[in-house]
Amino acid sequence: MAEEIAKVTGETVRNDFNAISTVLHYTRAAHFIGLWKSERELITRYLPDKSARLLEAGCGAGRVSVGLWHQGYRNITGFDFAAELVEQAQNLAAEQGLKEITFFQADATDLVGALALKRPAWAVDPPSPGFGATRGNGPYPDDAFDGVLFMFNGLMQIPGRENRRAAMRELHRVCRPGGHFIFTTHDREDPKDLKEWAKEAERWARGEQNPRLVEFGDRYFTDDNGNTFMHLPDRKEIFEDLAATGWLHVHDRTRNELASETPAVRNFSDNCRFWVARKS
Ligand SMILES: C[S@@+](CC[C@H](N)C(=O)[O-])C[C@H]1O[C@@H](n2cnc3c(N)ncnc32)[C@H](O)[C@@H]1O
Repeated sequence: MAEEIAKVTGETVRNDFNAISTVLHYTRAAHFIGLWKSERELITRYLPDKSARLLEAGCGAGRVSVGLWHQGYRNITGFDFAAELVEQAQNLAAEQGLKEITFFQADATDLVGALALKRPAWAVDPPSPGFGATRGNGPYPDDAFDGVLFMFNGLMQIPGRENRRAAMRELHRVCRPGGHFIFTTHDREDPKDLKEWAKEAERWARGEQNPRLVEFGDRYFTDDNGNTFMHLPDRKEIFEDLAATGWLHVHDRTRNELASETPAVRNFSDNCRFWVARKS
């Protein structure tokens, strides 16, 4: 009997992000590319207060958090589930003497889980019984941040829709009411890719899709920077996921609509869609 091929899991993705070629790729971006114009434009528009408490999920090697510090933000916390990348982010902040940024390791789908070993400065130690109306006594209190970010498609690198929703719920829980959530995705409805997706739908209908994929819309590929898992959502899916996790849609635009990025940014990454939501 043929051996069943394992589907991509969160652990597969974490191992892929801890791989040396991938760590180098994101570390170079943190050192030499920095914040994109589109990111700066949207973040400063929706989170204008430079003393806002910001949480960056999937911070990688610190590209966005460190870039935000250089924009004047002084209350920044970043986390990632890949330990090698967190270490790079911590090194970059230390090299630049940025004491106000805290980086720690955690999984966005479970901020009180086993990976959240290194507690950030704002965490309560020992956990206080007063914290966490929805998650018990965890060190990651409800309503602790004025804004939460999951940039450069990190949310879509979580395999399985329910897991992505779990991350959206966790970020909703730690964000204060009225606070904003900014994230990006690729666009499955991009007209230039429609034919390819129609063929992929036929493959799924015949059961001939890549057996490692979890859902229609997933991609798992390998290039010079290592393995990449990415889910490409359609618009309806994002609206449903926002509504199911307590977020109100505020705004969305593609990166190309928001700004003209430098060649370095365009070489590093394709166009994507920015989404802004608010906690009601
Ligand atoms: C495309 S990279 C972006 C890294 C960084 N934000 C940047 O723009 O350079 C996505 C990041 O999300 C992280 N990530 C993916 N799933 C995660 C999860 N469940 N919890 C925490 N981090 C996650 C990955 O480890 C990776 O660092």
